[in-house]
Amino acid sequence: MSKELIIDVIYLLAAILFIVGLKRLQSPVTARGGNRIAAIGMLLAIVATLFLNNILTPVEMIAGLVVGGAIGAIMAKQVKMTAMPELVAAFNGFGGLASALVASAEIIDSGANQNIAAYLSVLIGTVTFSGSLIAFLKLSAKMTGNPIQFFGQYIILSLVIVSMIACIGWAFLGGELILSLGLLSGLALIFGVLIVIPIGGADMPVIVAFLNALSGLAAAATGFVLSNTALIISGALVGASGIMLTNTMCVAMNRKFWQVMIGGFGGDSDEEGSAALVDGRSITSTTADDTAIMLSYARKVIIVPGYGLAVAQAQHQVRELAEVLEARGVEVKYAVHPVAGRMPGHMNVLLAEANVPYDALYEMDEINHEFESTDVALVIGANDVVNPAARHDKSSPIYGMPILNVDQAGTVVFLKRSMRPGYSGIQNLLFFETNTRMLFGDAKDSVSELITEVKAV
Ligand code: TAP
Repeated sequence: MSKELIIDVIYLLAAILFIVGLKRLQSPVTARGGNRIAAIGMLLAIVATLFLNNILTPVEMIAGLVVGGAIGAIMAKQVKMTAMPELVAAFNGFGGLASALVASAEIIDSGANQNIAAYLSVLIGTVTFSGSLIAFLKLSAKMTGNPIQFFGQYIILSLVIVSMIACIGWAFLGGELILSLGLLSGLALIFGVLIVIPIGGADMPVIVAFLNALSGLAAAATGFVLSNTALIISGALVGASGIMLTNTMCVAMNRKFWQVMIGGFGGDSDEEGSAALVDGRSITSTTADDTAIMLSYARKVIIVPGYGLAVAQAQHQVRELAEVLEARGVEVKYAVHPVAGRMPGHMNVLLAEANVPYDALYEMDEINHEFESTDVALVIGANDVVNPAARHDKSSPIYGMPILNVDQAGTVVFLKRSMRPGYSGIQNLLFFETNTRMLFGDAKDSVSELITEVKAV
């Protein structure tokens, strides 16, 4: 068997492993295994490329794998769940940069000024790099999470686009190679920054998914430059899945992708607090002992986790509360909204970390009809995903977003720290309903108090 054939067969095997791995990411039960399968596929592709093509000696390759693997493992172990989107943003950025550098080297090496795939790789990879860098800085609060918009932004953006096209055109017509490549890279860096700065910190996960798709497209373009099938397939898979994820998030938030890209929505909330009195109606505060009595004598309780649960890191306490209630004969279920939290699957991952059984978790469509027959809906750090304004208030930014029907439960108890709004920045009139109780405090403290009180009932 020729060396080329062996490499092609390994690439095919790697592609199959990528696809099987992706498929297994569909469910939390199989996701870890899926991740490992895809990682084995990547290892095979790397070994086939670097070793069989004699690019590196075995010692160099093992040294690279050990150093790179160790850095990746340490980063993945240390990152907090809430910081996962910024880690993904950083990875996307490095992926884009790697594609752009490889394509640039190929253009300079071969002196081929009419290689469209190489220019696309430089363009998309560099945009991904600078855009991801801004996303990383916003998500890690190293720069303001608020949308940055200024007069003439779109004129500058249009000029940059025209200049990038002109640069590629110039290179094609035989312009100075290094200069045109340098100009294109510089303009692409500016373009990446300009498209991400107008987007609010809370919309960043959507942009991170989009940048992930771009990093895949850049890799696929580089695959064409190098005639590397594994890179083309893996890049295309990342590109397609990133675009599907971006679309899924937009649909679940009831926003169009262009609305997200225009920006100006969902910055850091510095609002001190919304009114506790609306249209003459006031909220009803409650205490942990009153709530504990209500929960203890309930037949059925549905827990609705949201972003505040992740902030408070109260997942272990929530699982314990559910166990204490179940021990008293209360039926406890969890209702998970598709965009609760700040990243896809945020609540599933948090609850899985606390060993909440998967079969206690229900998706919105599965559980929405059950709120009518529920005694208490315990809303822990969630707000927008239960705001009934999404159903009827056409002027609301969340109008049309499917929500969890917690308002149909016998009693709704909100665990939050204040009257501050959530991500969308809007008031939730459910706080003022007669069947709603507000239990103010950090979610971890409140749930811990509830555990103590339920045990004492
Ligand atoms: P939000 O509407 O953002 O509400 C979170 C609530 O948690 C806030 O009202 C906040 O109130 C409370 N909170 C914060 N820290 C807390 C703590 N330590 N203890 C107790 N409560 C705390 O969250 P949600 O209902 O999960 O909705 C998610 C929102 O994010 C949606 O609008 C969605 O469209 C958007 N979004 C989601 C994603 C994905 S993929 N999940 C991506 C981008 C945007 P206090 O400050 O008063 O405590």
